[in-house]
Amino acid sequence: MDLDYIRRQFPAFSTASLNGQAFFENAGGSYMCQPVIDRFQRYFEQRKVQPYYAFAASQEAGAEMDLAPIRFARYLNVAPDEVLFGPSTSQNTYVLAQAIRARLSPQDALVVSAQEHEANSGVWRKLAQDGIDVRVWPVDPVDGRLHLTGLAPLLDAQVRLVAVTHCSNLVGEINPIAKIATMVHGSGALLLVDGVSYCPHGLPDVAALGADIYLFSTYKTFGPHQGVMVIREAARKLLAPQAHYFNHDNPAKWMVPAGPDHAQVAAANGIIDYFDALDAHHGGSDDADRPRRLEQMLRNAEFPHIKTLLTYVSARNDIRLIGPSDPDVKAPTISFISEKYPATEIGHRLAKQGIMAGAGHYYAARLFGALGLDADRGAVRISFVHYTSEAEINHLIRALDSVL
Ligand SMILES: Cc1ncc(COP(=O)(O)O)c(C=O)c1O
Repeated sequence: MDLDYIRRQFPAFSTASLNGQAFFENAGGSYMCQPVIDRFQRYFEQRKVQPYYAFAASQEAGAEMDLAPIRFARYLNVAPDEVLFGPSTSQNTYVLAQAIRARLSPQDALVVSAQEHEANSGVWRKLAQDGIDVRVWPVDPVDGRLHLTGLAPLLDAQVRLVAVTHCSNLVGEINPIAKIATMVHGSGALLLVDGVSYCPHGLPDVAALGADIYLFSTYKTFGPHQGVMVIREAARKLLAPQAHYFNHDNPAKWMVPAGPDHAQVAAANGIIDYFDALDAHHGGSDDADRPRRLEQMLRNAEFPHIKTLLTYVSARNDIRLIGPSDPDVKAPTISFISEKYPATEIGHRLAKQGIMAGAGHYYAARLFGALGLDADRGAVRISFVHYTSEAEINHLIRALDSVL
């Protein structure tokens, strides 16, 4: 991939205050690409009015907003009416839990995995207060992986929904969602997938995955601070609308009580502008294969660095990698703990070496418990995306050598 071209699309790389610093906290929020910033600027300067009225600025605002679900739907391989924008994934799961709660009764059950960020955990577990049988799909206590054999005994005719992450923001394993979907659908339940930590590495084919509800956050995927909800047709029967009564049939609003954030929805188009341009720059034409080609292109760019870092971390005997060490199943989200130092101390030392990395529990506190780890002591998380360079990986390794 043409890394110079890629990095020119992200103003952060030419910003003096960030110069010389290597960014490894992408799982918390990625850099924003220029097309998103351009769309924000145009929206705020030229279109910052109530959309969908007759005057030109309002028409342009509405048209730009309407484009977003259409363009995301293409990459996600779903229908435009199945793509909704809400304030964040945490807020979206909160609303979805209210929507499902209205449709469940005490003889119903749901399954939630123990690998989740709290956004996809607490809201489901709280339904136990309404008499719902909430079953936890456990993780392997040593490496944090989810095994399909752990799910099978939890599935029966009572289960209405299974909530699982596509990729944990701590363990970093890309879970086999298509296989999980087959099991879940075989028992008559629906599958909700948290794609927040997967999507920065390529928007997936949601239809092929088989998820009935698929969630991600655009601020971790080069764009504005929002959450996207893909709600497939099959999931509608499990969800009571959560909007004003006269918006129940409005595909953009029925599950968004907050109402859309106009500028953010419009600016989200910039992510797709970037993906389209990235593919075109590398010789791709605007054909039906573009979404999958782009997903593969991002994965190919990241893969060698995933291998390098996993080899490095696995070879050290003073730190413990969380999650699998096999690069084939791993996203570039590599977390570890040290016996010697709490994570925050390592984070501070890395910052002094020009490394921006995460330290903490990343709202996956329950997962720390399941792994017998102390959430307060935290883990160091190294997370990167396709724009990360080999020079930055080498910078990181030198810094780790000196601080550990
Ligand atoms: C895996 C995962 N799921 C969900 C969330 C919550 O997303 P949001 O910040 O949009 O609420 C995060 C945020 O860090 C996350 O990493």
